[in-house]
Amino acid sequence: MAVAFAPGKCILFGEHAVVYGHPAVAVALDQGVHVSLEQSDEWLIEGSPFIPDQHPHISHILHDLFKYESHPLSIKIKSELFSAAGLGSSAALSVAFGAALQTYLRNDEELDVIKLAKMGHSAEAISQEGRASPTDTAASALGGCIVVSGKEVDGTINIFHSILKTPEGERKWSINKVNIQNKSNDIYLILGFTGDASPTGKMVSGVSNLLISNPNKFQEMEAIASITTTGLTALSIGNFEAVGIAMDACHAKLQELEVSTPSLDRLVDAARPYSLGAKMTGAGGGGCMVALSRNPQRVAEEIEIAGGSPLISKLGSKGVCIVK
Ligand code: PMV
Repeated sequence: MAVAFAPGKCILFGEHAVVYGHPAVAVALDQGVHVSLEQSDEWLIEGSPFIPDQHPHISHILHDLFKYESHPLSIKIKSELFSAAGLGSSAALSVAFGAALQTYLRNDEELDVIKLAKMGHSAEAISQEGRASPTDTAASALGGCIVVSGKEVDGTINIFHSILKTPEGERKWSINKVNIQNKSNDIYLILGFTGDASPTGKMVSGVSNLLISNPNKFQEMEAIASITTTGLTALSIGNFEAVGIAMDACHAKLQELEVSTPSLDRLVDAARPYSLGAKMTGAGGGGCMVALSRNPQRVAEEIEIAGGSPLISKLGSKGVCIVK
């Protein structure tokens, strides 16, 4: 038997601007996905027959990447993440599945987290018609704080480059890491799920249409890019008050891009009195907001009172690992 865990992620800065070549900053969460694999008489997923077409991520990793031809497996998945909420649950599943399969087949081999990040990205692309950013899979595999950009980013450590053939042509990303200074360990992220799914593709094309009809909105993209740089510097020196201010500013710009919703705004407003900063996270249109606070229980209560479902995490947790 092999069991692996891979974390979810949340975007702190740069969502939507990253589509236009600017950097995005994502952190791994405490919560994620566990995958366990066990030899079985027939192919099973969660005790039911495994139908490959219904699980393109898993089929791609099994057959295209590992060329798996051995006996059937029973696959069990346990997720602590809200799904379709911008927390990277499908990326965490791909990364955890890749790690569990590698351990199942070659027990003594150490996990190659860069290989797992690339494997996860390829599985995401297969199941999303060739379009996928490497942000979720990189954060899930590497853990900590990840900066994804069209080019290298000052003040970060480059880990690897990622290339993907998309229907719009070849795309290249630089995947970088930042060490967060959180010596006193008293800073938490509080996610608040609105209960509505976040339709990433629809939100990205909505922003594209908005920029065509109102090119002035490109200013908001530039503003998000400079807020991201400020937020990144603040994170790397451990100035969390400044990180919070940058999060508030980023939310205002995302509102200008019309990707926030009344539910997201309500949860952000509820969290702010007890937080250093709060913003929507990910594509928007639903999904989650995130607050940064030294008083996580209070913020979680306020989010719940405002109608959201809270999740408390440290800031930049560990990446993929083997559980047994
Ligand atoms: O899918 P989400 O909610 O994690 O957000 C994706 C972030 C976007 O910048 C909106 C899209 C992208 O591909 O980077």
